Amino acid sequence: MQKVALGWRRDGKRIGFVPTMGFLHEGHMSLVRLARAEADIVVVSIFVNPTQFGPNEDYERYPHDLARDRELCRQNGVDVIFHPSAGDMYSSGPGVFVAENDLSGRLCGAFRPGHFRGVLTVVAKLFNLVLPDAAVFGQKDAQQAILVRNMVRDLNFPVKTIIIAPIVREADGLAMSSRNSYLGPDERKRARCLSAALKTARGLYRAGESGCDALKKAMRRVIEGGKPEAIDYIEIVAERDLKPIDKLAGNCLIALAVRIGRTRLIDNLPLPDDRLGNLPEE
Ligand code: PAJ
Repeated sequence: MQKVALGWRRDGKRIGFVPTMGFLHEGHMSLVRLARAEADIVVVSIFVNPTQFGPNEDYERYPHDLARDRELCRQNGVDVIFHPSAGDMYSSGPGVFVAENDLSGRLCGAFRPGHFRGVLTVVAKLFNLVLPDAAVFGQKDAQQAILVRNMVRDLNFPVKTIIIAPIVREADGLAMSSRNSYLGPDERKRARCLSAALKTARGLYRAGESGCDALKKAMRRVIEGGKPEAIDYIEIVAERDLKPIDKLAGNCLIALAVRIGRTRLIDNLPLPDDRLGNLPEE
């Protein structure tokens, strides 16, 4: 992959990159289209990265359908799919990792120890293999996108642009995710409570509420209506450092992680500019 990428670079081609774990959907394809607009060559990686899964998580059962992924990539103008094996990527075993020591412990990091270390390590490896000028990440995984942006800045990766793309949702508001395929019919209905809670918060915010306790309480009520198996967190944080805040001010992020059945779902809404959240109006 690196040899090919070096060749493109020598020829003056701009490389756009979309890292994924496959089982692609319209959310991934929206990232591809943004990469397409920035680059001469678009690379999608499909790699279910073992180092970002915890011992009791879904690494072994993560969904896959390479034939379908290939077809979607073809339809959306992807030039190259990079699909390494775990052996290819980690042949030397665990050695050097990329760890972030502040933001990565917050929100999802508090519930998935080591997750962001695995993510940053694989993204660093992928960047060194694909050598992108621009890489696209989804707002869906807001914490991941922020951490990647910080990694590029702090470790001086020569990736000129990190684009963060709006969340693509199903018609009823559920944020698209490869993991939605785990949901049974009843769970799928209950999963609407995440985006519904964000809509409630947005409504209250527009009506003038800026107290985070009141907003979180209202969201909790909506989430509980979906009878979740567990609520990992309902948080309102400053986007800069992901620390919880008491009152909405500046750029903030409302972030949720909820378990419906065995499936852990996340969603978020950036404020005041909820354009990024792409949450449909009533
Ligand atoms: P994966 O979950 O496959 O997601 C790949 C990219 O698609 C991520 O940047 C994610 O935020 C984005 N994405 C997923 N659902 C989306 C939606 N509904 N709308 C917009 N974008 C969406 O995230 C990962 O893989 C991995 O952690 C990875 C970065 C590939 C490292 O292993």
